[in-house]
Amino acid sequence: MAANFKSEKVGIVGSGLIGRSWAMLFASVGYQVTIFDIIPKQVSDALADIKVQLKTLEKDGLLRGTLNADQQYQCIKGSSDLATVVKGAVFVQECVPENLDLKKKLYVDLDKVVDDKTILSSSTSCILPSYFSESLKHKSQVIVSHPVNPPYYVPLVEIVPAPWTKPEVAKKTKEIMLEIGQEPVLLSREIDGFVLNRIQYAILNEAWRLVSDGIVNVEDIDKVISEGLGMRYAFLGSLETAHLNAEGMKSYIERYGETIYNVSKTSGEIPRMTQSTSANDICEQLNKLVPIEKLPERRAWRDACLTRLSILKKEMNKTYKK
Ligand code: NAI
Repeated sequence: MAANFKSEKVGIVGSGLIGRSWAMLFASVGYQVTIFDIIPKQVSDALADIKVQLKTLEKDGLLRGTLNADQQYQCIKGSSDLATVVKGAVFVQECVPENLDLKKKLYVDLDKVVDDKTILSSSTSCILPSYFSESLKHKSQVIVSHPVNPPYYVPLVEIVPAPWTKPEVAKKTKEIMLEIGQEPVLLSREIDGFVLNRIQYAILNEAWRLVSDGIVNVEDIDKVISEGLGMRYAFLGSLETAHLNAEGMKSYIERYGETIYNVSKTSGEIPRMTQSTSANDICEQLNKLVPIEKLPERRAWRDACLTRLSILKKEMNKTYKK
């Protein structure tokens, strides 16, 4: 085997949007990837789609890793047998739909075929790993690696252990994520919403309140993020932003700490979108800004922006050594 290929196997279970992205990320560093799906046609569709995606990325100069598109594609195979995908794999990334019963059932099947060394990692966006791993024999090998869509351009992965996940499983998962070029953050324990969605929900809630209260409209609240805070947040987190906005965080606390507390006290109730009287108005405003039939076009534009941003971030990160 040539130097850049690896002999280790990785299994992908579920070959939808996220499963395909993971397969490409693992193949980018030469892992031997096998994809399984409950619907065999999904696997052949995924392989065809991945081939096109890899070629397009190569043509656009955006392909990750050192192997070319054909070599990366050679690393990815399909299988109609779950046991074949799992046996001897160092890492299995589960990417089946976000449904607890479905995941529970699948993990029972995985438990029967997995050996003691393979890490069973879930892509779940918000199901706590303890919910689908508690009764398993191999529960200490289960962890969540939650990606952000589209993972090829948005590198964050939240690694969330269950209470019984072995520390070495968390450590190895983090190492593998770094190896495939993602940016892992390891949570010390599971928590509802993990970290990304807790932050996302805090922002959504405040945006909802401000529009509901008639302070700003939908277009303007989103502008506050896209033309304001988001510009900085694409490069710095909120804590470092604060650190830089004063003479360090200590001075920021002295200057703004009480103001932040007093303003935050006025935030009010957590909005309940399903019962909110503002829901119709907010939906209408959004539909005017981006009509439903234009969503695919707007998503494609978003992904193109993220592609350019990820290139810029890589360039800019090289110019500053911490
Ligand atoms: P998807 O619906 O696009 O794909 C799911 C795939 O799993 C389908 O191909 C389906 O045939 C297959 N499947 C269903 N049951 C199966 C089983 N028992 N065994 C094997 N394959 C099975 O879903 P998507 O969007 O790829 O999401 C997968 C996971 O990733 C979910 O847990 C989701 O929450 C998470 N996630 C999704 C993100 C997104 O933006 N789509 C972002 C981050 C995480």
